[in-house]
Amino acid sequence: MLTPESLALIDQEITKYPPEHKQSAVMSALRIAQQELGWLSKDTIEYVAAYLRMPAIAAYEVATFYNMYDLAPVGRHKVTLCTNLPCQLQGADAVAERMRAKLGIGFGETTEDGRYTLKEGECMGACGDAPVLLHNNKRMLCAMTAERLDELLKGLD
Ligand code: FES
Repeated sequence: MLTPESLALIDQEITKYPPEHKQSAVMSALRIAQQELGWLSKDTIEYVAAYLRMPAIAAYEVATFYNMYDLAPVGRHKVTLCTNLPCQLQGADAVAERMRAKLGIGFGETTEDGRYTLKEGECMGACGDAPVLLHNNKRMLCAMTAERLDELLKGLD
């Protein structure tokens, strides 16, 4: 299901833990699987669990707890906007509104061309820089405004 390259990356993660605790690499293994396949299907989660010799339910628990894991296909650009209280108080609503107006999608939706997915995020631990937005799980943008969102979208392919 995964390429030898992805499996090699997972094997590398496994070496960070004692041999009897290889399941500790589950978060990394799920991330690597998602990076290759774009999202985590039930089969993928079960495959990762089997690879780590852990119960599938334990891998599901991890995959469903953290919102950086996608349990359904997402667009090329996943935009996750924190909607927790500090970000709300600093204007996350205005950013969300601009996203809806520009992309024509609400939270949990993907544009018809498959370019953008808008997701509602939980606190990203950067409340002092609220409102916070995450692009494709990797790039964090702070002190977001509608104008800064316009700039971000303009720079994406
Ligand atoms: Fe948004 Fe903490 S509430 S980063």
